[in-house]
Amino acid sequence: MKTAEAIEALSNEQRRFPPPPEFAAQANAQPGIYEEAERDVESFWAGWARKLEWIKPFTRVLEWNEPFAKWFADGQLNATANCLDRHVKAGLGNRVAYNWEGEPGDRRTITYQQLLEEVCRLANGLRALGVRKGDRVAIYMPMIPELPIAMLACARIGAPHSVIFGGFSPDSIVDRVNDSECVALITTDQGWRRGNKIPLKDNCDAAMASTPSIKHCIVVKRVGDPVEMREGRDLWWDDVVKGQSAQCEPEPMNAEDLLYLLYTSGTTAKPKGIKHTTGGYLTEVTMTHKLVFDLKNDDVYWCAADIGWVTGHSYIVYGPLCNGATSVIYEGTPDFPERDRLWSIVERYKVSILYTAPTAIRTFMRWGTEYPERHDLSSLRLLGSVGEPINPEAWMWYRQHIGGGRCPIVDTWWQTETGAIMISPLPGVTTTLPGSATRPLPGTFADVVNDQGESVPPGGGGYLVLTRPWPGMLRGIWGDDQRYRDTYWSRFPHKYLAGDGCRRDLDGNYWFMGRIDDVMNVSGHRISTTEVESALVEHPQVAEAAVVGRLDELTGQAICAFVCLRGGAAGSNVLADELRAHVGARLGKFTTPKYLTFTHELPKTRSGKIMRRLLRDIAEGRILGDTTTLADSAVVHELQERAKLEATKEE
Ligand code: WT7
Repeated sequence: MKTAEAIEALSNEQRRFPPPPEFAAQANAQPGIYEEAERDVESFWAGWARKLEWIKPFTRVLEWNEPFAKWFADGQLNATANCLDRHVKAGLGNRVAYNWEGEPGDRRTITYQQLLEEVCRLANGLRALGVRKGDRVAIYMPMIPELPIAMLACARIGAPHSVIFGGFSPDSIVDRVNDSECVALITTDQGWRRGNKIPLKDNCDAAMASTPSIKHCIVVKRVGDPVEMREGRDLWWDDVVKGQSAQCEPEPMNAEDLLYLLYTSGTTAKPKGIKHTTGGYLTEVTMTHKLVFDLKNDDVYWCAADIGWVTGHSYIVYGPLCNGATSVIYEGTPDFPERDRLWSIVERYKVSILYTAPTAIRTFMRWGTEYPERHDLSSLRLLGSVGEPINPEAWMWYRQHIGGGRCPIVDTWWQTETGAIMISPLPGVTTTLPGSATRPLPGTFADVVNDQGESVPPGGGGYLVLTRPWPGMLRGIWGDDQRYRDTYWSRFPHKYLAGDGCRRDLDGNYWFMGRIDDVMNVSGHRISTTEVESALVEHPQVAEAAVVGRLDELTGQAICAFVCLRGGAAGSNVLADELRAHVGARLGKFTTPKYLTFTHELPKTRSGKIMRRLLRDIAEGRILGDTTTLADSAVVHELQERAKLEATKEE
């Protein structure tokens, strides 16, 4: 669907789903909560913060020195004491924290007591290796229990973790590790993916040739094939924890001490190390997890995202554990060994809350209803969506075929930078509409503004901004305060620019329209056009490249590359495949361009700026907009013809 049609369809969306009365009656969030937050937002957040366990209680709430926020700054706490010890002390040690299922079918059940012990052993092991409070530790792992254990062990001793998604390439590991000078790297021999073995340790070895700050690499044995272990640097996880005590005093952390870094793509080739601190972040992820997912003691909660992205940090690790939730973690892909894997897991563990991404839902739609129909999904009572705008058809399919028509859906808008869900229905309170994330949560203040930064009246569209600091917000970009100001705070004074286009309907519901900057969203993964372009021009045959996102039915957007070769060479299918593979190897497979077109020239303005708008139009087969500023108009017509050919090839 083209954007204009999409907007049209959204404005015509008439379906409304008020919360079922039984759900509303038992819901954690009740309608008065919006007003309560509005009345005094600082005491609202302080109230939630006081539900955490503090080593030293805070007396101050917010210090706002725009654009730098401090929340609860004179308080001290430890994240893991809140995630683990607190529940064990309350007699919940035998409660299951994680039901874990490996892709080959192996299973582990880990209680809060066991999780605490494992975390303490590794924390002691890290200390024994010389890792100190404030040192950064990189983690590059598949979805196995040792991943949250590693994160929590770092948090236990006050060493900020920097998780690098397991799909990233060695070069991407190098960039991230070197930017924040991590002292240790925790990984796995190999990982399982669709029955294949992913060479995680090999990737780390390739990376560690260029990461001088790494002193130790700790390796979990997951698959069991031999891997190279360099004497003095590489250690098996089992040896690191062997003989270590299952008790480890949690490091008292200031509320504003760094909990973790998480790198995300921006509009330049260099990923940004987003900083999240301890007190405010924990407060907000705990609150949103409890209210948006309506978590109860007997729920079985499953966020099917990867822990390598912020969704997993906030809603597999910190939020659920702070709330004492019982979660599910699954290691592999949804189609292994068959396309009903997710539904077999829902049935086996009686999952009651499921949180996944639109791209996954559209994949399930394409596979057909026979797979969910094979399983008893009656345990489900609430569904969530995250990562990109969800189209109304996918929303309705999710509701009908997964939720049995009875489960409220929460479409949650947020970002790595926001730390926690910002715009979302509260189930039991909010009337939902297919395709809308509805409205800002209590304590969150958003607006939609025009080019001048003026609030757009209901019915209009513009840029989504956040107008007040919030506890879980990023505290900046590692090592680059200026980039933090420039990226988020310079376009509109006193407003945080999220980078998303958004419309607000006459009832005040928010409809997200995708990114407005040079960031693509492919299957909910954020990828910068510039990053892919730089990877392309690194290839010896490439002179110049331009990359844009193209609407894609399955993945939201697909990567579309226009490439000029050196010496005006013509290009071939073989070279196109080679360039695709080159990008995949440079950045990670998930960044491989789906479309790649050779051209002798890119459309540019007379001042030499690439006209991406035109390329986007070409990629999406639209009638071209204004081409009068173009230096050479022949080139777009040539590209248009090629793009048509490419499109027919695809279909
Ligand atoms: C970008 C943030 C939030 C965790 C996963 C992605 C898009 C996210 C929604 C949604 C429309 C959404 C936005 C945002 N996005 N959720 N419910 N509706 N768009 O985190 O990698 O930091 O990406 O994802 O464009 O800016 P991220």
